[in-house]
Amino acid sequence: SVCLFGGDRPCSGRVEVHSGKEWIPVSDGNFTLPTAQVICAELGCGKAVSVLKHMPFRESDGQVWAEEFRCEGEEPELWVCPRVPCPGGMCHHSGAVQVACSAVYSELRLMTNGSSQCEGQVEMNISGRWRALCASHWTLANANVVCRQLGCGVAISTPRGPHLVGRDDQISAVRFHCLGTESFLWSCPVTALGSSDCSHGNMASVTCSGNQTQVLPQCSDSLPEPTGSAASGESAPYCSDSRWLRLVDGGGHCAGRVEILDQDSWGTICDDSWDLDDARVVCRQLGCGEALNATRSAHFGAGSGPIWLDDLNCTGKESHVWRCPSRGWGRHDCRHKQDAGVICSEFLALRMVSEDQQCAGWLEVFYNGTWGSVCRNPMEYITVSLICRQLGCGDSGSLNPSVALREGSRPQWVDGIQCRKTDTSLWQCPSDPWNYTSCSPKEEAYISCE
Ligand SMILES: *[C@@H]1O[C@H](CO)[C@@H](O)[C@H](O)[C@H]1NC(C)=O
Ligand SMILES: *[C@@H]1O[C@H](CO)[C@@H](O)[C@H](O)[C@H]1NC(C)=O
Ligand SMILES: *[C@@H]1O[C@H](CO)[C@@H](O)[C@H](O)[C@H]1NC(C)=O
Ligand SMILES: *[C@@H]1O[C@H](CO)[C@@H](O)[C@H](O)[C@H]1NC(C)=O
Ligand SMILES: *[C@@H]1O[C@H](CO)[C@@H](O)[C@H](O)[C@H]1NC(C)=O
Ligand SMILES: *[C@@H]1O[C@H](CO)[C@@H](O)[C@H](O)[C@H]1NC(C)=O
Repeated sequence: SVCLFGGDRPCSGRVEVHSGKEWIPVSDGNFTLPTAQVICAELGCGKAVSVLKHMPFRESDGQVWAEEFRCEGEEPELWVCPRVPCPGGMCHHSGAVQVACSAVYSELRLMTNGSSQCEGQVEMNISGRWRALCASHWTLANANVVCRQLGCGVAISTPRGPHLVGRDDQISAVRFHCLGTESFLWSCPVTALGSSDCSHGNMASVTCSGNQTQVLPQCSDSLPEPTGSAASGESAPYCSDSRWLRLVDGGGHCAGRVEILDQDSWGTICDDSWDLDDARVVCRQLGCGEALNATRSAHFGAGSGPIWLDDLNCTGKESHVWRCPSRGWGRHDCRHKQDAGVICSEFLALRMVSEDQQCAGWLEVFYNGTWGSVCRNPMEYITVSLICRQLGCGDSGSLNPSVALREGSRPQWVDGIQCRKTDTSLWQCPSDPWNYTSCSPKEEAYISCE
């Protein structure tokens, strides 16, 4: 594996590779930008923006990796790149090499009111500016990652209530989709497309357990909700939840087979009496909006492992799906061909619609349960190229402005999409908020990929 050490921010630092025993620096001798591109991509850090040579080594034992990497830039990881042994095992060099990647999302901090370092409003350094995060799709799983990243133990709640934000603080409405087990918020998948403005007073916050050494009782299914409001927070017993939720094989974070992690095993839910009220709890818990569909009979394929829950009877208001009435944890009379699934309103999909062509057509996104078009103003080359890549239609394309007006009517879901170099899917690109009529039918995008 490869790592960047000692940088002044995430996704930057001196390049070292692991020998199986220890970390060894890579020499700056013939190190190239395409190699840096592969490293940045492998680390989920976007694109390489700089390569600095002649850097001091972290340790002065003189050891240097005895091979040169000759990546072309498109390899999925460093170890796939061609490697050339240096003559006599000695790589010609003048120091270590430092790579900086473009990472948009970086450090975190909590704005606290002084009572504890481990509770407060979450702020993230996004594109070099500190911004508060919007609470509209904020989850306990995200909060847990924040607590871990800040050395504050585990998340106990995501309180609502009075907030500390200054009037002119910038707010970011990007949505993170953490599982809850990640080490850094910036490594969780993020969606920026269609984010709405966030009103002041609706900012993401966390209360962490505050101390990694302190052992909290595990939340049992019968304990009161730990995610109470700030007002009820005082009397709520503190406990940590060790279960996590995800949706699998649905083509996104917000649709798929429901799976719960408990004691290192991912298991499923049986579809006996599975309905929209149950799905509602799942969608809300995942920050995925409203439930559109509660699927049955392994609609998204059969899972494996345990079947954790059966005969669920949620009211729809519970904060965690495992707190709903059921037969009891692990009790069921089902097979995996009965696995339950959901489709939530924040589930996104992309397609091109055309009568006879595969990689040219009207661009459509699926949002809130409906396919709608995408507006073409302003859609730059970088955005069109990313869309073509996401659809498996090559690396570039263009807007086709001279196509006749399209028949039929549909929502015009989104306008003003502006992808950046660091974005690797359309979902990460900022845009105007979702809107049923974002532009006139004359402005729907028709794309031809090359
Ligand atoms: C690296 O570059 C130097 C000169 O820049 C060259 O002499 C050397 O052979 C190169 N290393 C390898 C392994 O090709
Ligand atoms: C500040 O912290 C105290 C103690 O935890 C809490 O009661 C109060 O509501 C907090 N105030 C704000 C504005 O968050
Ligand atoms: C945010 O991050 C950028 C890049 O790492 C850094 O230059 C800047 O100082 C940070 N902003 C603040 C306010 O700390
Ligand atoms: C964490 O726990 C240790 C041991 O119980 C204690 O000494 C320390 O003060 C605690 N730190 C915080 C920040 O609560
Ligand atoms: C589900 O809960 C409701 C009350 O919330 C109750 O009336 C109903 O009988 C329950 N259904 C099952 C199958 O347990
Ligand atoms: C999504 O659909 C629901 C119900 O169909 C509707 O109430 C809501 O306004 C829709 N949201 C958007 C952004 O269109």
